[in-house]
Amino acid sequence: MTSDPHSVRSFAVISGAQVQRALQGQEKEIVELIEATYRLHGAGDSVNPPSYFLRFPDRPSSRIIALPASIGGHVRVDGLKWISSFPENVAAGIPRASAVLILNDHDTGYPFACLESSIISATRTAASAALAADWLSRGRQRPGRIGFFGVGLIARYIHSFLAGTGWSFDELGVYDLSADSAAGFRGYLEQAGTAGQVTVHDSAEKLIRSSDLVVFATVAGEPHVTEVSWFEHNPLVLHISLRDLAPEILLASTNVVDDIEHCLKANTSPHLVEQLTGNRDFLLGTLDDVMAGRVTVPADQPLIFSPFGLGVLDLAVGKNVYDKVVSSGDLHVIDDFFHELRRYG
Ligand SMILES: NC(=O)c1ccc[n+]([C@@H]2O[C@H](COP(=O)([O-])OP(=O)(O)OC[C@H]3O[C@@H](n4cnc5c(N)ncnc54)[C@H](O)[C@@H]3O)[C@@H](O)[C@H]2O)c1
Repeated sequence: MTSDPHSVRSFAVISGAQVQRALQGQEKEIVELIEATYRLHGAGDSVNPPSYFLRFPDRPSSRIIALPASIGGHVRVDGLKWISSFPENVAAGIPRASAVLILNDHDTGYPFACLESSIISATRTAASAALAADWLSRGRQRPGRIGFFGVGLIARYIHSFLAGTGWSFDELGVYDLSADSAAGFRGYLEQAGTAGQVTVHDSAEKLIRSSDLVVFATVAGEPHVTEVSWFEHNPLVLHISLRDLAPEILLASTNVVDDIEHCLKANTSPHLVEQLTGNRDFLLGTLDDVMAGRVTVPADQPLIFSPFGLGVLDLAVGKNVYDKVVSSGDLHVIDDFFHELRRYG
C-alpha cells in the first residue's frame, strides 16, 4: 500500500490458486469475518445497492449478476463482484458459476486488484450458512442429522465450512435430481472422512423428514417443494438457493433473511410470499437482528434462513485474501496497467 492517499496503486491480478491457498483451513476466521461484516452492514456502515441481473432472451437459464458494494469500518474498500451462472456448464463438465471481484481504492476510486472470485463467492456463502446454522440453532437442540438438497459446489463448500467450524453429524442425507451429482457428493463426503452415516435418498420427502438441518442448494427457478407437512418436525432450513420452497411453507415457518430489501426481490420464495400476502409480516428479521438479540427465534416452528447474498461479504473476503497475498510476497502486479496518468500528457 502507498503512503500518499492520492497516488495510484499498482494493479494486481490474483488467481484462483492464490485465493484457494489464502483461504485454506481458515474456516473459523472467515466465519468471524462474515459475522463482523453482517454486524457492520446492520449498523449502516456499508453501501450495498440492489444486485443487477443481466439476463438473455436467447439463453433464459443463464444470467450474470453485478454486485457493487462499499465497506467502511477498518476494511474501507469499494468494489464489484461480477458473477455468471450458466447452469448448462455442469453437463459440459465445468462449474456453473464463474466470477471476478474488482477491489477499488477508498481514496482514489482506482481499481487495485482483480481476483478470481468463484472461490470467494462460494466461501462467503458457505461461511454465512455456517454462521446462520450456529446462531439459529442456539435456542433448539443442535442438529445431528443434516440433509443436502441439491449437491453441487455450494453444498460441498457448506459441508466443509460446517465441518471446519466444529459441526459433526450422525446422519448425512443427500438428494439431487442428478444421480451423478448425488454419487459425486457422496464420494466427496467419504473422502472428507465423514464419520456419520451417509444416505442417498430417492425422494425429497424422505430427505426432509429425516433431517434436522436441511440445506437447499439447487438451481431451481421456482418452488418445487410444496408440502407443509414434510416440515412438521421443525427443522432448521438453510434456503441458500432461495426459490425452492412454496409460499405456504414459509408462511408456516419462522423466517430470517440476510437483508430484507435484497431478499424480497427477483422472485425468491420470500418475495413470492410478499406478493401473495401484500405484507412482510412473515419475516422475523435479519440474521444481524438475531445476533444482536433484537429478535428471539421460537423453537416450535420450522426455521428458514434465506440469504440473498450480499456484495459486502464478497468485498470483506476479497480484501482479506488480498492482504494475505500481499503479506506472502506473492502479489502479481500488472506493470503499467494505468498508463494515462498525467492530465496533459
Ligand atoms: N444465496 C446466496 O448467497 C448464494 C450464493 C451462491 C450460490 N447460491 C445458489 O446456490 C445454488 C447452487 O449453486 P452450485 O454452484 O452448487 O450449483 P451446481 O449447478 O453446482 O449444483 C446444483 C445441483 O442442484 C441439483 N438440482 C437442480 N434442481 C434440483 C431440484 N429441483 N431438486 C434437487 N436437486 C436439484 C442439480 O442437479 C445440481 O447437482 C444456486 O442456485 C446458486 O444461485 C446462492
